[in-house]
Amino acid sequence: MSMLEQLNRYGGWPSNTPCPYDWDELIQEDRVHRLIYTDPQIFTAEMTHIFAGTWVYLAHESQIPKPNDYMTMRLGLRPIILTRDSDGELRALYNRCTHRGTTLCRFEKGSAKSFQCPYHGWTFRNNGKLSGVPWPDGYAGDFSDPKFNLAQVSRVASYRGFIFGTLNADAPSLVDWLGPIAKPIDEWIDRHPGGKFRVCEANRLMYKGNWKLAYDNSADGYHVVFSHRSLLETENRLMAANEKGMSYYKTKPDEQPMYVAYMGNGHHFKDKRPNLQKRVGGLWALESAHPGKEHYEEKFRAKYGARADEFLDLAGSEPVNINVFPNLSLLGNHIQVIEPLSVNETNTTWYGTAVVDDDNVLDGAVDDINALRMRTQEGFPNFGEVDDLSNFEEIQHGLEAIEDEWVYMHRGLGIPGRVKTDADGIITAPATDEVFMREYIKEWKRLMKHPPNLHVQREP
Ligand code: FES
Ligand SMILES: [Fe+2]
Repeated sequence: MSMLEQLNRYGGWPSNTPCPYDWDELIQEDRVHRLIYTDPQIFTAEMTHIFAGTWVYLAHESQIPKPNDYMTMRLGLRPIILTRDSDGELRALYNRCTHRGTTLCRFEKGSAKSFQCPYHGWTFRNNGKLSGVPWPDGYAGDFSDPKFNLAQVSRVASYRGFIFGTLNADAPSLVDWLGPIAKPIDEWIDRHPGGKFRVCEANRLMYKGNWKLAYDNSADGYHVVFSHRSLLETENRLMAANEKGMSYYKTKPDEQPMYVAYMGNGHHFKDKRPNLQKRVGGLWALESAHPGKEHYEEKFRAKYGARADEFLDLAGSEPVNINVFPNLSLLGNHIQVIEPLSVNETNTTWYGTAVVDDDNVLDGAVDDINALRMRTQEGFPNFGEVDDLSNFEEIQHGLEAIEDEWVYMHRGLGIPGRVKTDADGIITAPATDEVFMREYIKEWKRLMKHPPNLHVQREP
C-alpha cells in the first residue's frame, strides 16, 4: 500500500490550542487525579494518544484463519473490519463507507470477498479498493482517485498469531514494543502442543466505568480475598484441603512465591506459577471446583492412564495474568480484551481458548481435553469478573465526589528492599503491590504528553 495520509488535525487537542492539562500534576508518584477517569476530553485524547498512538490488540489469527475471513471490532472508537484479504494479507479496514460514512459491515464475523454498503450500494473489495458505484453516469468524474478507497490502519502486525494495529508511524516495531512481556506470552503459547491453540467464542460483559479501571485491576493481588470472597468461600466449602483456585491469596499473599512484574511500555505480569507443585499434574491439582470435576478426572485416568495428568494439565487454567497495554490480558486460559466505549462505559470480552492437535500427539484426547477445558473456563469470568465489574462501577460512582480528588496507588512504595529492579529494567514486587499501576500510568502519561504521528493508508 502507498498513500499515507497524515491525520491529527482534529484528534486530541485541536492543533491551535495548548493542552489544558499539566500531566505531572495529574499523575504523581503515589497518586493520580480523578479526572483521568472522568473527564470526557481526556478520554477523547486517549483515543488518539493511546488507542492509535500505540499498538492495540485487535484479534487472534485463529479467528480469521482463511483468506476472505473477517471479523469486526474497534480500534479505540473507530469501527474496523479486520480481514485476511483474498491474497491472504491481514488488513484492518475502516468499517466506514467513503461515500457518506455508513458502516459497511454490520456482522460480527464471516467470510466475504467484498463489502457492499447498505445505504447506496457502493461496493469495496476486501483489500479496501472501491469496485463498484451504482449508476456511475450520475457522477461528473470517475472513481479512480484513491480517496474513494477505504481508509486502513497503516500498521498491522502479528506476534505469534496475536494481531495488533497502530496508526503511529513513529511507534517501534511490534516486537520491540512488546519487549520482555513477549517471554511470558511465548510460555503461555508454548504450553500447548506444537505451540498451537485456537480462540473460541466469548463471554461479553459491559460495565459503566472507565477502561483504565479494568487495566488497574488486571494484576491487582490486593483485592482478591475481599472482592472475590464468595468465590473463595465456595472453594473452601467444596475443597477440604483449601489449596485450590485462589486460596493462595487467603492468608499472607506477599509471603507466597508468586510475584508481580512490570515489564516496560505499560505491560505487566502476575506470575502465580511458582505456587504450583513442580510436577506433571501440578496445575490440575490446583484447579478449583466445578460441577462434574471428579467424574471427568476419573474418566481421564481410566482412559488415558499414564498421560492423564499431562492431559488434565492442558485442561487446567494457567495461573498467570499477562497484561499487554492498553487492552489485552491473557488470564488463565482466557484472552480478555478491553474495549473503551466512552469515558464511563467499557466492554470486556473474554474469549475462551482450545487446544489444537494438528500433529496428532494427544492420543485422540483433544476433544475430551477441550470439553473439560471449557468447564474450567466457565469459572472465573462468570463468577469472579462480575465482582470486579461492580467495583469498577462503584469507583466511577465514587469519583463523582469532585472535591475529593486523588486516587492512591502507593502500596509497596518507599519500603526498602520490597520492590526490585533487575539489570534489564524489569521491576518485581510481592503479589499485592501496586507498583505495576504506578509504572504503567507513567507510560500512559508519556503517551499523553507527546502527540502521536498518526496516519491512515488507502490502496493506490
Ligand atoms: S453511504 Fe455508503 S454508499 Fe452511500
Ligand atoms: Fe478480580
